[in-house]
Amino acid sequence: MSTESKNEQKRILTGDRPTGKLHLGHYVGSLQNRVELQDKYETFLIIADVQALTTNFDRPEQLSNDVRQVARDYLAAGIDPEKTTIFVQSMVPEIAELTIFYSMIITVNQLRHNPTIKSEAEQYGYREMTYGFLGYPVSQAADITFCRANLVPVGEDQIPHIEQTRKIVRKFNNMYGDIFPEPEALISKFPRLMGLDGKSKMSKSLNNAIFLSDSAEEVTEKIRQAKTDPARIHKDDPGHPEVCTVYHYHQAFNQSAAAEIASQCRAGKIGCVGCKKLLAEKLNEFLAPMHNRREKYLAKPELVDQILLAGTEKARQEAAKTMAKVRSAMKINYFTS
Ligand code: TRP
Ligand code: SF4
Repeated sequence: MSTESKNEQKRILTGDRPTGKLHLGHYVGSLQNRVELQDKYETFLIIADVQALTTNFDRPEQLSNDVRQVARDYLAAGIDPEKTTIFVQSMVPEIAELTIFYSMIITVNQLRHNPTIKSEAEQYGYREMTYGFLGYPVSQAADITFCRANLVPVGEDQIPHIEQTRKIVRKFNNMYGDIFPEPEALISKFPRLMGLDGKSKMSKSLNNAIFLSDSAEEVTEKIRQAKTDPARIHKDDPGHPEVCTVYHYHQAFNQSAAAEIASQCRAGKIGCVGCKKLLAEKLNEFLAPMHNRREKYLAKPELVDQILLAGTEKARQEAAKTMAKVRSAMKINYFTS
């Protein structure tokens, strides 16, 4: 679909903190959706490296690799740089500028009550929070609005941040005039993908992930070791697919065969070894086109850098337009006529 026939009225911004390789959970929960949406809307995709500093400020040496890794994962997953503007947060200084302006109109208490901030602080064991960590939703509001985005496709955990962005926008517009559209969250309809341990969602830090960049051998080995129904000791023991991680993945990646697999499992007609083999084949089939695209970028790393630089350049042009409006609305454009 050409840009002309896209929904010109609406613009999307979404993104991720670059903290390592992306996995199947990211694909199901967001990447897949973004690949579809890029045909319908003008899309900006932020690699939020400054936001990654809120937790990784003491590991700066990882950042440049992580930024490129995420970019490669995006491109491998089918994000098309002709359709989506991929850019690096820290290279758009207007976002930092807008963050400062927004920090005047949100209170510390509003930030303290943000449930995602609270649960992340707990998860990381912060007894005290840095100003930057407490305030990252303000910076995220700047990420979303610097390009005057209308829609923000995200997972449920991001709802409080989008709500705070909307509050900031309303207050800003009330005070200074209608500068920004009030952005809306587009909540991912896919449930979170379970991790290989079958206990919690797939996550790099929990060591239960299949990465988009895993080789076919790695995928097969990870599936081979995945937890299944503990009641199945012998091949003809009746199984309970609903408690089995392997079945959960069949449902996500092998939909057309999932019902048949469930009934064979219940009847004790398929063994876990065979069932896992089927799944590994299916997953590798699914990942193969991503590997092909990735190869191209691994062979020419400068291509990824060019894409990021061009995307960032385009983001900065939008940022400049927005900041001209913001400065004029806030009457801090002293020396322009
Ligand atoms: N907070 C998001 C996450 O942890 C990442 C992010 C940064 C983001 N800026 C954004 C998401 C702007 C949507 C819009 O996943
Ligand atoms: Fe799980 Fe498949 Fe084994 Fe049933 S046969 S328990 S679905 S791995």
